Amino acid sequence: MTSAASHFALVQLAHASRLINHGPTVLVTSAHGGRRNVMAAAWSMPVEFTPPRIAIVIDKKTFTRELVAASGAFAICLPGTALAGLTYAVGSTSGRDEDKLARHGIATRPGPVLGMPVIEQGCAAWLECRLIPERHTEDAYDTCFAEVVAAAADARIFVNGRWDYRDDNAALQPIHHLGAGNFVRAGGVVRGAA
Ligand SMILES: Cc1cc2nc3c(=O)[nH]c(=O)nc-3n(C[C@H](O)[C@H](O)[C@H](O)COP(=O)(O)O)c2cc1C
Repeated sequence: MTSAASHFALVQLAHASRLINHGPTVLVTSAHGGRRNVMAAAWSMPVEFTPPRIAIVIDKKTFTRELVAASGAFAICLPGTALAGLTYAVGSTSGRDEDKLARHGIATRPGPVLGMPVIEQGCAAWLECRLIPERHTEDAYDTCFAEVVAAAADARIFVNGRWDYRDDNAALQPIHHLGAGNFVRAGGVVRGAA
């Protein structure tokens, strides 16, 4: 399935960390061997600038983790405020027995480098990621490290390598999970630089 009109533009990899610097809840998309999936993740963060690397917690029990381990790849997509309900829904059931993307009518397109399904409709940005093989992740931990190999953002909210939060793009502003299905949209921008 392909998304309709897109306002997405590629983001320089040097700016990729800015997309998740503020701790948004993300949708993790994955695919392998004819199966695909989406789950919610509140725990992710940038850990390196060049090349851009991220850490993200993907529970070993999830179907997502199975697909990511098999393909060595995934994408993270930043749902806007309008997708809060959808985010909670795909974070509350497993894709092991059903295609959650189809069930919720989520349009995707293949990411440019790894072909991971990325979501643009209702999302502010996406990052396509290659899993970094790591013994501790394989053996014990839910934390996965990955290199960002492509990134893009909606030009109505990410402008010239910077977030541009305005009243007229509130529906696209990323969300932050407070717990129990409650989310907050970051409030007013506070300028800390001269
Ligand atoms: C808002 C929200 C945030 C979540 N954050 C995480 C997370 O950071 N890491 C994680 O492993 N699971 C997280 N979960 C739980 C997974 O999304 C959930 O286990 C999901 O059903 C896994 O789906 P899957 O089996 O189809 O991969 C979160 C759930 C919700 C609703």
